[in-house]
This record gives sequence, structure tokens and C-alpha cells, in this order.
Amino acid sequence: MVRNSLAVAKNDEENSPVVQARPIPRISIAAFCSSKELQETVQRVAADRRLAKAHVAIHSGGTHEAFQMFSDQPTPDLLVLEAGSDPAVILAQLEELATVCEERTKAIVIGHTNDVLLYRELMNRGISEYLLAPVEPIRLIEAIANVYVTASSASLGRVVVFIGARGGVGASTLAHNFGWTVATLLNAHTAILDFDVAFGTASLNFNQTASQGVVDALAQPDRVDSVLLDRLFTKSGEYLSLLAAPAVLDQDCEFPPAAYERLIEQTRGMMPCIVVDLPHQWTAWSRQIVQGADEIVVVATPDLASLRNTRNLLSAVHSRRANDLPAKLVLNQVGMPKRPEIPLKDFIATAGQAPDVVIPFDAQLFGSGANSGQMFCELQPKSKAAEAMRHLANSVAGRHAPVPAQKSSLFALNLLKRKTG
Ligand SMILES: Nc1ncnc2c1ncn2[C@@H]1O[C@H](COP(=O)(O)OP(=O)(O)O)[C@@H](O)[C@H]1O
Ligand SMILES: [Mg+2]
Repeated sequence: MVRNSLAVAKNDEENSPVVQARPIPRISIAAFCSSKELQETVQRVAADRRLAKAHVAIHSGGTHEAFQMFSDQPTPDLLVLEAGSDPAVILAQLEELATVCEERTKAIVIGHTNDVLLYRELMNRGISEYLLAPVEPIRLIEAIANVYVTASSASLGRVVVFIGARGGVGASTLAHNFGWTVATLLNAHTAILDFDVAFGTASLNFNQTASQGVVDALAQPDRVDSVLLDRLFTKSGEYLSLLAAPAVLDQDCEFPPAAYERLIEQTRGMMPCIVVDLPHQWTAWSRQIVQGADEIVVVATPDLASLRNTRNLLSAVHSRRANDLPAKLVLNQVGMPKRPEIPLKDFIATAGQAPDVVIPFDAQLFGSGANSGQMFCELQPKSKAAEAMRHLANSVAGRHAPVPAQKSSLFALNLLKRKTG
């Protein structure tokens, strides 16, 4: 089991929504909000993907109303309490509330006074956190995560999902090269999960024999643990593990969303980076994976269908992930000879977002990589495509991936033979 860490991306912007907040377990939360502002904040927190398992009840009022409510009913796991600005009143009301609170109940107080002495006193009395109003939703999520996420789950791996705006845009090729870059240049243990069960190309692209790996894991979710996964993963280099698809059509490839969730959750406990190669589909399970990912990479090409789908995908994703950074956008296969293209500025205007990286069409490089089972990042580390992968890896990992020396590859050797032969 590997637990070295992949740092979270540092963002250029102040107050960036990129945080270490981890999914919150299945807990009950009761929030008492006296202001409309906090009520709205808690509503946004309750809708966040990280609280999908938690149950949040929002009430109006403050600490005293909480006391009244829980005088004759059990307290939830966590209370979020809006307090006023008078430290003496805040403390007195909390004391009153403590008389009816069960021992396991924790409390986060959101107050309107910036008072260090009050903060210390609250910590002494076992309050989990004091936040000064107004509070951003992501800061409240972070505070909740700090109370409930244990040290072992805090080191869970980051899930990076690649999805194509349509089939054939290069999503899988880029997912594999991205995973290779993180594993090889950042030395971070990385798993590539090929979820294109019937047609996946991970085994071909890494020159490995196809395996039942992903089917074995999805077909028996209850048995999925680190021991089984260690057996199912095939290694490609020291830091990269593959869960390849069998790519045979003799069985149905339908598995419940919970099977995918379980597989991803288990893998997150084993490595710092999990790259999910999704087929171009929008099903219950793929949607759930996309919405729950730490990072989403949408791969598009400069054509009309791709543009329309990109716009739809980005808006579907962003409407459900208000407290996350936007998905990353990759514009691939730009400049394909003789193919009419939508100009970049028009693409940006309609998609509503500029691409994070633009990758040129390069039939020679991508063709040789695909046919020799090698990563283009390894074949031509100085190519624009490889540079784009390093840029993506850097921004996801917050670390700088060095440019590797070009290796003499099979491809280069073959060329050499042809030239000299
Ligand atoms: N920038 C590019 N230039 C040339 N060929 C590319 C480029 N990107 C992808 N390809 C090729 O396009 C084909 C489809 O790629 P694939 O990764 O399987 O797409 P997807 O997973 O989106 O269906 C592959 O043969 C791949 O080598
Ligand atoms: Mg694919």
C-alpha cells in the first residue's frame, strides 16, 4: 500500500476554492442560522458533492433555539450554530445547550465577533471550531471535514477524471499520458482505471496483455479491498498501476454505480493519484463519477458536435459543483490538415471557457505511440503534447514535472534502421 502524497494544486488566486476538504462521512448535521446569509451558505454546503452522504437539517434561530429543540429529542452528530457578537451571551447560551447535548455531538460556532479570548474559551469548552461571519461555503465544508475526516482518510488520493466531449477526441490517450507523467515525472504512485470495459485501450497503449482486472473488481464490489486490487493491478514502471479493461464482447458490461464508487474509494486509499478513463457516455454511474471527482478534464476537438457537447458538459458539471474549481478543458487535434475548424476565439465564446491546454494534431507522434504501445510523452518529451501533459500534471499536483531526456524509443530505432538500412 502506498501513501505518499500528491500535493493539492496551489492556485494563483487568493481565496481559491481548492482545498483539502475530503468527503464527509454519513453524519447528521443540524444548522441553526439566525441570518438569511448563513442559511444560504448552509444550503450551498448541503448541496456540495462532499456532503452527499451527510444529512443536513437547516433551522432558523441560534444557540438558544437549538437548546429548545433538543431539550426533548436527541442531538445530531454535529451542530452548526450562528451566534451573535456578545461573548458573554455566546458562552452562556452554549453552556445552556451543553446541558442537553449528547457526548458524541460536536459543534461549530459561527459568530459575529473577532475575539481571540472568546475563541480560546470556546476551544477550552470543547467547541470544534469558531468561524467569523460571513463564511464562504468551502470554509465551512473544510471545518466540517477537519472534525470528521480522520488522519488516514485525509491522505486519500485525488481522483482525476478524463471525459471526451465526443468519441475519438483523444480522451483515453491523454488520460494515459497524464497518468504516465504524474507517475514517472512526479514519482507519485498513480492508478489508471480503464472504465471503457468493452473497448478500452489502456492495455494496448501500455503494451500489456488485456486483463479481466476492471471486470473482476466491478463484478464483485463486496470483495474489493487493497489485497484484491494489488492482485488485479498490473504494473507499468515503478509508480504506475493499471486496471485495464478486457476489451472483449462476450459479456455484458453493466455494473451498478455503487460498484464503480467502491472501486474508486478503495483505490484512493492506496495511491495519491487515480486517473479515471471514462468512455464517452452519460449514464448514472459515469455521471456520478464525474460529479464526485477532485478534478475533471474535458477533452474536445474544434468541431461543432464537440463544441456543443463541451458547453453542455461544462454547464452540467459546474451547476453541481459550485464550490469547486471549473473543469479543465483540453482542446485536442488542432490543425488537422484539410479539416475545417472552429476558430479558437469562437470556441471559447460558445464553450464559455478557454482551454487550459491546446494540443496540435500530430498523426506521426500519436500514431507511433499507439502502434508501438508507448506514451507520446516518452517518445517525444519536448513535443507540444507532452508539454501540455506536464502543464496539466503540474496544475493538478501543484508540483513541477521536469522535462525528461528523450529516450531512444522503438519508434526512433525503427526510423534509424529505415534511414541507415
Ligand atoms: N493530437 C492528436 N493528434 C493525432 N492523433 C490523435 C491526437 N489525439 C488523439 N489522437 C488519436 O485519436 C484516436 C482516438 O483517441 P482515443 O484516445 O482513443 O480517443 P477517445 O478516448 O476520446 O475515444 C487515437 O488513435 C489517438 O492516437
Ligand atoms: Mg476512450
